[in-house]
Amino acid sequence: MSSSTSQMASLAVLVFLVVCATLASGAASVRVGLTRIHSDPDITAPEFVRDALRRDMHRQQSRFSGRELAESDGTTVSARTRKDLPNGGEYLMTLAIGTPPLSYPAIADTGSDLIWTQCAPCAAQCFAQPAPLYNPASSTTFGVLPCNSSLSMCAGALAGAPPPPGCACMYNQTYGTGWTAGVQGSETFTFGSAAADQARVPGIAFGCSNASSSDWNGSAGLVGLGRGSLSLVSQLGAGRFSYCLTPFQDTNSTGTLLLGPSAALNGTGVRSTPFVASPAKAPMSTYYYLNLTGISLGAKALSISPNAFSLKADGTGGLIIDSGTTITSLVNAAYQQVRAAVQSLVTLPTTDGSDSTGLDLCYALPTPTSAPPAMPSMTLHFDGADMVLPADSYMISGSGVWCLAMRNQTDGAMSTFGNYQQQNMHILYDVRKEMLSFAPAKCSTL
Ligand SMILES: *[C@@H]1O[C@H](CO)[C@@H](O)[C@H](O)[C@H]1NC(C)=O
Ligand SMILES: *[C@@H]1O[C@H](CO)[C@@H](O)[C@H](O)[C@H]1NC(C)=O
Ligand SMILES: *[C@@H]1O[C@H](CO)[C@@H](O)[C@H](O)[C@H]1NC(C)=O
Ligand SMILES: *[C@@H]1O[C@H](CO)[C@@H](O)[C@H](O)[C@H]1NC(C)=O
Ligand SMILES: *[C@@H]1O[C@H](CO)[C@@H](O)[C@H](O)[C@H]1NC(C)=O
Ligand SMILES: *[C@@H]1O[C@H](CO)[C@@H](O)[C@H](O)[C@H]1NC(C)=O
Ligand SMILES: *[C@@H]1O[C@H](CO)[C@@H](O)[C@H](O)[C@H]1NC(C)=O
Ligand SMILES: *[C@@H]1O[C@H](CO)[C@@H](O)[C@H](O)[C@H]1NC(C)=O
Repeated sequence: MSSSTSQMASLAVLVFLVVCATLASGAASVRVGLTRIHSDPDITAPEFVRDALRRDMHRQQSRFSGRELAESDGTTVSARTRKDLPNGGEYLMTLAIGTPPLSYPAIADTGSDLIWTQCAPCAAQCFAQPAPLYNPASSTTFGVLPCNSSLSMCAGALAGAPPPPGCACMYNQTYGTGWTAGVQGSETFTFGSAAADQARVPGIAFGCSNASSSDWNGSAGLVGLGRGSLSLVSQLGAGRFSYCLTPFQDTNSTGTLLLGPSAALNGTGVRSTPFVASPAKAPMSTYYYLNLTGISLGAKALSISPNAFSLKADGTGGLIIDSGTTITSLVNAAYQQVRAAVQSLVTLPTTDGSDSTGLDLCYALPTPTSAPPAMPSMTLHFDGADMVLPADSYMISGSGVWCLAMRNQTDGAMSTFGNYQQQNMHILYDVRKEMLSFAPAKCSTL
């Protein structure tokens, strides 16, 4: 997946041409609904957090070294694979592939780039998906992506030489213990939940997977929204995108993902902080790093070293914002301050929530239906922008258990700002201006 700087430069030109051919010809913006994966309606909130957390950890194994993961999660998750965890905390967008268009749900992930779905024929190594399988042979717009396309993962290997006749680029994209493999194709995609704002975009490079691990239950693939050239954001030349995630435990409502000019945030209450450029190559260069300088609980500024979230030259350290991770992880030095501050305010008895939720700080509520006590908001101090999280965005309750919805990470590892903490916030990624903006919002009504 790594590509050299010169390949990136030629890619920028191609991306620009794609935009001219597509977005400029009428389809100005893309608007799609986002719903959270929730395969089992009867699951309790703690079980749900447990599944989501374990899926997070599997995903993150690819982002950190195995050593860091082993140290940070002990033995809790290692015995399970993601297929046992149907209730992930990811959000799904619906898009359609091919001609005629076949619609399917895919995980919207700002932490990776590749857009992929399962392709027929695909027998032994495909997972059960909640939509009919796409068959490239039944679409009039499918093509194998030429190996010398600047979007081909094989382009680097050709080193400028003409591709062998009939060359098709095979990929195997790994995400922690999850992976997906197949051939790179090119297709027309249709975006937009409502007929009125549908956009058909030809020539999108995507992964046509005929073998995957069984880790993607609830989706039929994934849409990468990262900074790399293969992401949907880059391929559309969208320049900016925004999303608003409905509350985690509200599985009835639909949030929104906007790509292109309609992704805008204005009004009072909008705060902006610059992205920090990755000092390292892929996969680090895919991530949206933020500059987190401190955390407060209520009026109390926590005593966290200014360099707790320092980004190192190899891309470790630092904090990324990720729509595809559920529970925020903080380096332990910061996490312990947050944990202690929460504990200093709560008088309920603690309970070992690690079995039911996988979370480290949990309290027993008097009864399963008791409302948790009031808590002050938590403020994340980003460079130039304070983000205020109401209690429901950093604590989670269900079945009489009430937990701090954050986890710790080895000091010096990368921290991740997850989607539980992003609920009911409209978040704009302006990749052209290199800025993240956000404002509180009621996402079901955006
Ligand atoms: C995470 O915190 C728990 C207790 O709060 C501690 O036992 C554990 O060692 C910490 N893990 C890391 C990686 O620092
Ligand atoms: C890719 O290779 C083919 C066959 O050699 C050639 O016709 C085409 O122009 C090349 N395309 C690019 C983008 O280099
Ligand atoms: C893809 O890579 C994963 C992880 O390395 C491996 O387990 C899997 O067998 C590979 N799949 C294919 C089809 O090569
Ligand atoms: C996937 O497709 C490739 C290329 O056509 C083929 O070599 C491979 O055997 C297929 N894998 C499976 C599991 O069908
Ligand atoms: C998820 O997997 C479970 C069992 O592993 C299965 O019963 C369920 O139908 C799957 N859900 C979807 C949406 O594919
Ligand atoms: C979701 O919808 C169901 C059925 O329409 C309803 O009973 C339930 O109260 C709704 N839940 C929320 C959180 O709105
Ligand atoms: C927000 O700003 C965009 C351009 O930045 C503008 O097109 C749009 O009308 C504004 N929306 C509101 C509600 O002010
Ligand atoms: C992070 O923000 C602080 C405070 O504004 C600033 O001093 C520092 O240079 C920033 N670091 C990076 C890497 O942008």
